Amino acid sequence: MSLVRTERLSKVYQMGETALHALRDVEMTIDPGEYVAIMGPSGSGKSTLLNLLGCLDRPSQGRYFLGGEDVSQLDDRRLSAVRGARIGFIFQSYNLIPQLNVIENIEVPMFYRGWSETRSESRARELADLVGRRPPDPPADRTERRPAATRRHRPGLGQRPRRAPRRRTHRKPRFTQRRRNPHHPRRPASAR
Ligand SMILES: Nc1ncnc2c1ncn2[C@@H]1O[C@H](COP(=O)(O)OP(=O)(O)O)[C@@H](O)[C@H]1O
Ligand SMILES: [Mg+2]
Repeated sequence: MSLVRTERLSKVYQMGETALHALRDVEMTIDPGEYVAIMGPSGSGKSTLLNLLGCLDRPSQGRYFLGGEDVSQLDDRRLSAVRGARIGFIFQSYNLIPQLNVIENIEVPMFYRGWSETRSESRARELADLVGRRPPDPPADRTERRPAATRRHRPGLGQRPRRAPRRRTHRKPRFTQRRRNPHHPRRPASAR
């Protein structure tokens, strides 16, 4: 079975009176293990297509089967669940969280899966090892590991290309647990 299959996938952006057909009747399949590059001039619809394939947006028409499941008309909540469980999307700008150190950045998706801190930290360290950077052992106080206190833990530009893919590589089902994000900075800006 194809990992990705689209049927007449279309995306129309309505701009006031005019309809802009960003994608028209796209038919494509991607098999498991295939490595695919989408090429085309600027404005040809690459980002629009990736947004649809990544379940970040819904098509105007047509169907998208991801692993056999029709995901073209799921609501935002269901799409989020599909993304969390099945999709790794590496953005051009990586979208790493600057307040978090390397390990914490890798832990972000595990956090949203509701993994325990112990489990996600140990998994994040394993994944960091896989890309060849052994982070220092954590100080006893977790907060000290943030970039403000220890700048050297912050992923540098050159390291981000390795970090972002790794963050997307961990895949274990067991999704959704809503908690307040403990990593979110709560101090007022003046205190930082
Ligand atoms: N949110 C949007 N609203 C209106 N038009 C859009 C939007 N996003 C993209 N477009 C238009 O859709 C077409 C395809 O854009 P895009 O998918 O970004 O192309 P590419 O990534 O190949 O450069 C372009 O004409 C672009 O201007
Ligand atoms: Mg683009």
